[in-house]
Amino acid sequence: MRIDIITILPELLEGPFSASILKRAQEKGLAKIHLHNLRNYSTNKQKSVDDYAFGGGAGMVMTMQPIDNCISALKAEREYDEVIYMTPDGEELNQSISNSLSLKGNLLILCGHYKGIDERAREAYITREISIGSYVLSGGELAAAVLTDSIIRLLPGVLNDETSALSDSYQDNLLAPPVYTRPAEYDGMRVPDILLSGDLKNIELWRHEKSLERTKTRRPELYKKYSK
Ligand code: ADE
Repeated sequence: MRIDIITILPELLEGPFSASILKRAQEKGLAKIHLHNLRNYSTNKQKSVDDYAFGGGAGMVMTMQPIDNCISALKAEREYDEVIYMTPDGEELNQSISNSLSLKGNLLILCGHYKGIDERAREAYITREISIGSYVLSGGELAAAVLTDSIIRLLPGVLNDETSALSDSYQDNLLAPPVYTRPAEYDGMRVPDILLSGDLKNIELWRHEKSLERTKTRRPELYKKYSK
């Protein structure tokens, strides 16, 4: 899979993509992530990418020209399955969106800033608008990093134990059960006996029970979806 990200702050994204699972996925050739500095596509002398909003009001708007040039140049090189704009007014990211995006070949992600991008760029190029939650970030970069991470960890071969993404919270609309590791007793706090029993069938049942309990108390709206 290939993910191209258009940003005015590539340095903000270099860190998250150069460590741990995302780094390994790229080294193994399972994912290609390319950052494109929007300013390089601005044709004016100051390399500006924003301007005042028509109609007045506080805040700048990202202009058409660099976005148009950048997206056109990238689209001339390959076809994209989705052109995604990260914005607080997009559809809210969830596991099922990440699952479906992980099956695509080429994704293009545009990070917004200021008051957002000129509406005409949304109309002309954007096929999907995604928010990572009901709060406003300083820009779309951290949201793009979250989206990219949630997609790439699902690609076959990226996680060492391929089943582990399947047992994540949310994969079946349930939160994950509690987990424990050695020692079996720490400062008087004991691991539940069932987990030490070696009885795999009952351990599975126990875990499922705990997942249900957790989801019911912490995320009642998810639990409703599960029990439907
Ligand atoms: N840009 C600013 N806030 C955002 C959010 N919550 N999700 C996606 N992109 C954003």
